Amino acid sequence: MGKVITIKNNKGGVGKSWLTLQLAHIISNIDENKVLVLTSDSQNNVMLYAGIDVEFDKGLETWLSKGDGDLIALRDNLYYIPLSDSSFKRGFDKKLKVLIERFKEEYDYILIDSVPVLNIDKCFLELADTIVIPTMLDTASCKGILNLSNEVDLSKVKAIVPNKFSKTKAEKFWKDILGDFLKGNSIYFAEPIPQMAFLSELTHQGKTILESSSKKIDEVQNILIHIAKVVSE
Ligand SMILES: Nc1ncnc2c1ncn2[C@@H]1O[C@H](COP(=O)(O)OP(=O)(O)OP(=O)(O)O)[C@@H](O)[C@H]1O
Ligand SMILES: [Mg+2]
Repeated sequence: MGKVITIKNNKGGVGKSWLTLQLAHIISNIDENKVLVLTSDSQNNVMLYAGIDVEFDKGLETWLSKGDGDLIALRDNLYYIPLSDSSFKRGFDKKLKVLIERFKEEYDYILIDSVPVLNIDKCFLELADTIVIPTMLDTASCKGILNLSNEVDLSKVKAIVPNKFSKTKAEKFWKDILGDFLKGNSIYFAEPIPQMAFLSELTHQGKTILESSSKKIDEVQNILIHIAKVVSE
């Protein structure tokens, strides 16, 4: 029975789509897991970041109405269902639940890349077994994390992943505050992923961190592999 992992933060640009792709690729490389990525992002950034540029006209909306649609192979064992339009017809939530149950029979993991504040994201949060929260370590984002229980079911949150870390004083301050806040909690507070031009360059080339042998990203690879293991357990 597949497990649903939703990557969520109401803030834009924190690396949700990027992290979704990296984790999905790593998890699909563990024990030959079959992984499906879904999204509420009609820009389909996950596909873009994976370097795949194909036409589609039967995205998630068609899966919901007809029970079938486009399935795009991003890598071996790693599939993607695109989204053409983020406005959904009434009653889509029940259909989405049924569809996800069906996917759980076929896939070992279903990762969901969310976008800020959309109705469909509420369903994706409800359907999640596990929630992963990428965040930046700035004041506004971290205050949001301290109030997280207002937005998500904390018992589902398995990891908080600081991203785009550039080692400023303010970031180190918030890293310590969040570390203390999460101490003794079952939520895994990951090592911060550094802000690196090399990572955006890799993404620009349509490659994941597993597809580079540069020593520069050894640390990032280790951090992400560890997160993938924690959230896929
Ligand atoms: N650690 C990092 N270092 C450098 N660039 C990064 C890092 N993490 C993510 N990026 C880049 O930052 C950009 C924004 O990331 P991404 O699209 O994943 O954010 P998002 O949270 O999904 O945004 P949105 O809310 O718009 O969907 C991308 O170009 C991505 O490649
Ligand atoms: Mg995104």
